[in-house]
Amino acid sequence: MSLLVRGASQVATPVGSVARRGDDLGTLQVVDGAVIRCDDGVITFVGTEQEHDRRFPEVERVLDAEGGCIIPAFVDPHTHPVWAGSREAEFNRRLRGESYMDIARSGGGINATVTATRAASFEALLTGARRRLDTFLLHGTATIEAKSGYGLDLATEIRMLEVIEAANRSHPVDLHPTCLAAHEVPPEHRNDPERWVAKLVEEIHPSIARRGLAEAVDVFCEDGVFDLDQTRRLLADADEHGWRIHLHADELTPLGGTELAVELGALSADHLMCITDAGIAALADSETVGVLLPGTSFFLRSDFAPARRMIDAGCAIALATDCNPGSSPTESMPAILALATLSMGLTVEEALTAATLNSAAALGRAAETGSIEVGKRADLAVLHGATFHHLVYHWGVNPIRHVVKNGHVVVRDGQRV
Ligand code: NIG
Ligand code: FE
Repeated sequence: MSLLVRGASQVATPVGSVARRGDDLGTLQVVDGAVIRCDDGVITFVGTEQEHDRRFPEVERVLDAEGGCIIPAFVDPHTHPVWAGSREAEFNRRLRGESYMDIARSGGGINATVTATRAASFEALLTGARRRLDTFLLHGTATIEAKSGYGLDLATEIRMLEVIEAANRSHPVDLHPTCLAAHEVPPEHRNDPERWVAKLVEEIHPSIARRGLAEAVDVFCEDGVFDLDQTRRLLADADEHGWRIHLHADELTPLGGTELAVELGALSADHLMCITDAGIAALADSETVGVLLPGTSFFLRSDFAPARRMIDAGCAIALATDCNPGSSPTESMPAILALATLSMGLTVEEALTAATLNSAAALGRAAETGSIEVGKRADLAVLHGATFHHLVYHWGVNPIRHVVKNGHVVVRDGQRV
């Protein structure tokens, strides 16, 4: 199947197959009036329409961008998209002054979602996840990382990962599954967290690895959840399981999770709202991508990660939604870009690179996706506006008009097709 996307005012994309950092983070390639050809899901041409028509006399389908700007579809490298229940009531409690951790320790938080998720069937979880995936797609995201972590027992963690596998098979969005069984200490182990750590290491992680249900492993390394030593033990077998590492690090307290992620060669260290100078130095000197989640800072009304200092120090940074029912209930990367620019001080160019090429790098997939270049996967988003600035300029509404996934039009005029 061939598709020609024509009629764009501009094509704006980062270029390359590794994460960009420093001054390069903000260097986009912007080509006015370019057309993009896709064959069998892969980009085969980017250039003038005249040149295209000379080289390729035939095309099966055409999508007219009608003066919109084309960008790479977003890659969201940190999401928790499978859950049951709702935590809307926690929102007002936090507005009245209770902290995220206060609520978690009084029966709300992650464990409230665990109770609802354990009680939910495979079908109910899949229906909820697929609805969220439609919303991701409508907002321009074609690839996500997807964590388990609301089961906290073997059966439910497996069910969540099987839901992710089924969603990946049956929905256009690509999902990269991560085992986050070490998301919290479940109520039945609250009195003896060490037993829970042992169970994860000896039973749950090996069983999930044997089933081939995850590509990566993650741990919520945080004061009152898993400390540095427990996190180290939880990740010690990652290689043996064939898993790459993502780490919830330095989110609410500066524990040194970033340094541990770097030491273990993690693909990404995520959150980093409380990253220290030593953490920034370690990250800058590594291949580990710092995944920033400004939606979580905004929603929890806490500090934003020191993105400018990290970029200036040479860290590779990416952006993600953290889509989850507690600390960031959104699927919208455009909303994240608005926060990244207006609240963290990134330029639009830097934010776009961080949400596409660098977020693909945070999944180890920068050679396949994250930019509009010949040979990459044909995952594109067409904006309503004529320039890439439109992404954050027309804020609070969805700037995405069309989405192409694997060379197929999957969103047209803001509707799923
Ligand atoms: O990334 N930090 C831990 N996990 C999620 C929150 C999950 C929840 O509150 O349900 C996060 O912020
Ligand atoms: Fe998270």
